[in-house]
Amino acid sequence: MLRREELIEEINRLRKEKNAVIMAHYYQRAELQDIADFVGDSLALARQAARTDADIIVLCGVHFMGETAKIICPNKKVLIPDTGAGCSLADSCRAEDLARWKESHPGYMVVSYVNTSAAVKALTDIVVTSSNALKIINQLPADQKILFGPDMNLGNYINSITGRQMELWNGACHVHSRFSVEALLQLRKKFPQAKVLAHPECKKIVLDTADVVGSTEALLNYAKNSDENEFIVATESGILHKMQEACAGKVFIPVPPEATEIIIDGELTPCSCNECEYMRLNTLEKLYECLRDEKYEIKVESYVAREAIKPIERMMIMS
Ligand code: 13P
Ligand code: SF4
Repeated sequence: MLRREELIEEINRLRKEKNAVIMAHYYQRAELQDIADFVGDSLALARQAARTDADIIVLCGVHFMGETAKIICPNKKVLIPDTGAGCSLADSCRAEDLARWKESHPGYMVVSYVNTSAAVKALTDIVVTSSNALKIINQLPADQKILFGPDMNLGNYINSITGRQMELWNGACHVHSRFSVEALLQLRKKFPQAKVLAHPECKKIVLDTADVVGSTEALLNYAKNSDENEFIVATESGILHKMQEACAGKVFIPVPPEATEIIIDGELTPCSCNECEYMRLNTLEKLYECLRDEKYEIKVESYVAREAIKPIERMMIMS
């Protein structure tokens, strides 16, 4: 087994030799964010995929992010370090179920969150991410009937801001749904000056408590540009790495999940970090093996990709 420094050296050698670019989402382990050529939210990763001239894209994130990159760049090799890196939210919406929902709602436009499979995107009119969902929905005619999925928390949030009545899919991210409201309220009391930053995938009660609701990138930018010094953060705790790096001297307090305990020194200890176990499957070692063996390659059937690119292109134009 290679040591950490050797892994880094080999990854650097391989990416140069193979003209590969390493992209990482903000929820990745710190060492993967540090070694990546580019770190971003799901919209920024898609945009970066569209403009790269690398032959290989290694997407350190989850499967739907690799699929989106592959749909955008059908002629490039797109790899992910672990095939198990799925997404509970994407899994909550199967293409056949969406097709039935669509059939039972003639005249509706389908707007899907990017956290969906390629097959779901192929049935979609416009894809959105947490960065641009509000902006895109606001551009649609006020009387346009919309089916929105799969994240009902994001959908509810958009409905509440815009006054629309989009029909919502009953899906949610298990990570963002499990923040402890009790702990959040206690943290608010303990740090009265702190601004609460929350991702729109969080439950309504968390979003109602938040000062700022936004995508991972929007929350990071808010923390960077704000005069405030303390932030209570309700999104996957991987984002704290970049927040701390970009905002020396500022304090970031993660909201813990409900009743999560980890074993430290044989003792059950409450865990303060809310981590996406799918995102955390990727490691430095797996990234090295991924580059070395050019595995695991993302494949999207060409007839699916041909349809799925259309709502992604509409998103790029509208955002
Ligand atoms: P972002 O669009 O903010 O990157 O979020 C993606 C995601 O999976 C959130 O759980
Ligand atoms: Fe999916 Fe939630 Fe993990 Fe994001 S945090 S990848 S929405 S399971």
